[in-house]
Amino acid sequence: MTNEKIPPADQDPKVTQPDDGGIPNELPHHTKLIDKHAILEKNATLLLVTSFLVVTIGGIVEIAPLFWLENTIEEVEGVRPYSPLELAGRDIYIREGCYVCHSQMIRPMRDEVERYGHYSLAAESMYDHPFQWGSKRTGPDLARVGGRYSDEWHVDHFINPQSVVPESVMPNYDYLMRADIDGQYIEDLMATHKLVGVPYSDEMLEAAYTDFHVQADPMGDYDGLLERYPGAQVRNFDGQPELTEMDALIAYLQMLGTTVDFSTFVAETSR
Ligand code: HEC
Repeated sequence: MTNEKIPPADQDPKVTQPDDGGIPNELPHHTKLIDKHAILEKNATLLLVTSFLVVTIGGIVEIAPLFWLENTIEEVEGVRPYSPLELAGRDIYIREGCYVCHSQMIRPMRDEVERYGHYSLAAESMYDHPFQWGSKRTGPDLARVGGRYSDEWHVDHFINPQSVVPESVMPNYDYLMRADIDGQYIEDLMATHKLVGVPYSDEMLEAAYTDFHVQADPMGDYDGLLERYPGAQVRNFDGQPELTEMDALIAYLQMLGTTVDFSTFVAETSR
């Protein structure tokens, strides 16, 4: 930009010349709409009221459409509610504070995707109440830990983490091996999750107690369980005869991140 066409301040019609011999205002003097802004700026109450109005309109524009959208989460094939035993394991995970050191959300950045696998989809936590995304990673992200290690590795790791990862700072959870569980409240727990939107059917609730036990019993009749929870893994997770908290926790960990088949998954935006 060149200055050539701009007259000196004392000849510029846009610059006000004070009569009292003071310093001329060299900023162009507007007399248009923008000038009226001064009214707002000089009146605190009016400024407050109009700011509030502006924020309200902005808020409504952002929030209101959500009430008319049927669903804010893209549904993804394969994602299913937790089986009774997995749900119990999830409760133990929360009770023991595993989320204090472990996140369950793989962010879509290269370093994370290369280390942990496909980035997490919203649908993968749609049945999590509360979600376990976490905000602290003293240990690795666990969103896709399912199938990464054998059950025996998990048992050894929980009994004594340093026996398999010498530099580990993870505490021992050996007592989970000795804590027998019966699942007597599992139906109530599932009914509570149903209350907040997890689509457990009446049939699932009725079969909850049986399904709870049969998932850790490869000799049992688990066809019904597999029908209700496709892909559920059935075996004796901790390798000892009693059904323990260790079984439930490992059943939960071994299914994490395994429900979506990423060899066929296509995100909606890239279709
Ligand atoms: C004090 C922090 C801390 C707490 C609490 C904690 N962990 Fe860990 N965890 C770690 C660290 C550090 C590692 C990495 C070293 C290792 O494998 O032990 C780890 C590793 C793991 C791994 C292996 C992950 C991988 O991909 O290699 C699993 C599974 C795991 N933890 C599960 C749990 C569960 C379940 C709980 C709760 C019962 C729990 N952790 C509680 C710190 C913690």
